Amino acid sequence: MLKNKTIVLGVSGGIAAYKAADLASKLAQAGANVRVVMTWEATELVKPLTFQALTGNPVVTGMFEPAPLSAITHVSLADEADIVVIVPATANIIAKIAAGIADDILTCTVLATTAPIVLSPAMHNNMYVNPVTQENIARLKKRGFTIIPAVHGRLASGSIGYGRLPEITEIMGTIQQTLGKNGDLAGKRIVVTAGGTQEVIDPVRYIGNRSSGKMGYALAEAARDRGSAVTLITTPTALGIPAGMETVKVQSAIEMKDAVVKATAKTDALIMAAAVADYMPETASAQKIKKGAGGLTLELVKTPDILSEIKGKFLKIGFAAETQDLIANAQKKLTAKSLDMIVANDVSAKDSVFGSDNNKITIIKKDGKPQALPLMSKREAADKILDNVVKLLK
Ligand code: C5P
Repeated sequence: MLKNKTIVLGVSGGIAAYKAADLASKLAQAGANVRVVMTWEATELVKPLTFQALTGNPVVTGMFEPAPLSAITHVSLADEADIVVIVPATANIIAKIAAGIADDILTCTVLATTAPIVLSPAMHNNMYVNPVTQENIARLKKRGFTIIPAVHGRLASGSIGYGRLPEITEIMGTIQQTLGKNGDLAGKRIVVTAGGTQEVIDPVRYIGNRSSGKMGYALAEAARDRGSAVTLITTPTALGIPAGMETVKVQSAIEMKDAVVKATAKTDALIMAAAVADYMPETASAQKIKKGAGGLTLELVKTPDILSEIKGKFLKIGFAAETQDLIANAQKKLTAKSLDMIVANDVSAKDSVFGSDNNKITIIKKDGKPQALPLMSKREAADKILDNVVKLLK
């Protein structure tokens, strides 16, 4: 996704400029060609050499710094860019861009580019909430800029308020989403479920399973990065909430069913990657169950089968995590649950188990023969699944 993309990373003079170094590093690690442009004030806070070392590219710090070899720097940068991202964007740079001022290399590049532009404002609370800053932000949004809202928290001044730069993963997510907005799922809506449900026994205990949520999250992010609007319905997981999608937090199978019914009122596809419990305690105890002399028997009842029960004109895609007779069991589920596609994975296989970053899947479509794929990252597997979704949606 980010591989071979040219990302012009503008750094303006806020203290969060040091966090832009981490972003530059992560983008370069993902294979992007990162061209850093710094305002003079930013160079007072972080040395250009830091960015040069992290990106492997010379850093542009002025209209004539470094001296241009052939083309005019701001025009060539503006042309080369697949995307321009400003992190952090100070109140001053936002105001200048909103007014069309081009008095330094960064504002000149912004004015000269036709690439999408993402701004991540970070500043003191009072400057951020100041109506003039908010008006400038609103103006830029109206002109098609993507603005990542600053978050609430501790600011460099020591006070608490709005103005913090969001997590770098959030900025990375927004960059990927922006780059992919005209992808092959543009204009589509996909609902993805992720994680393992938790069926409450009492206020401190539940019945859970070993699903990490990684496959569902990878699917949601991959769909987002191909232009789809995404609703991610997730159980509690250790993963960070992905940027650029609607997220609905649920715990039990019943809560998940309600969320799925609501979200699929308008959708093109439902991908049920979540590991939904098949049984739940008949009643959840209001108080913590005390240890007694003997054993404990829990009365379990069936949970609703969400995929089987859900109605609507959208693609239904299920997962079959199996430890034996993978294909036969998956094919049975495909028919029993009236699915368009099922993704089978052998959870007893080495490095394809719950919690792994990799997966070895077999994709089975309603009318097709099983398509067995080699071991790959969950993100790559997600894209293979979505390749099939794109075909089915045509
Ligand atoms: O029947 P089994 O649980 O193996 O089916 C797996 C598929 O069905 C998964 O896609 C899972 O998300 C979905 N499922 C469901 N509701 C349940 C159980 C599983 O939608 N109660």
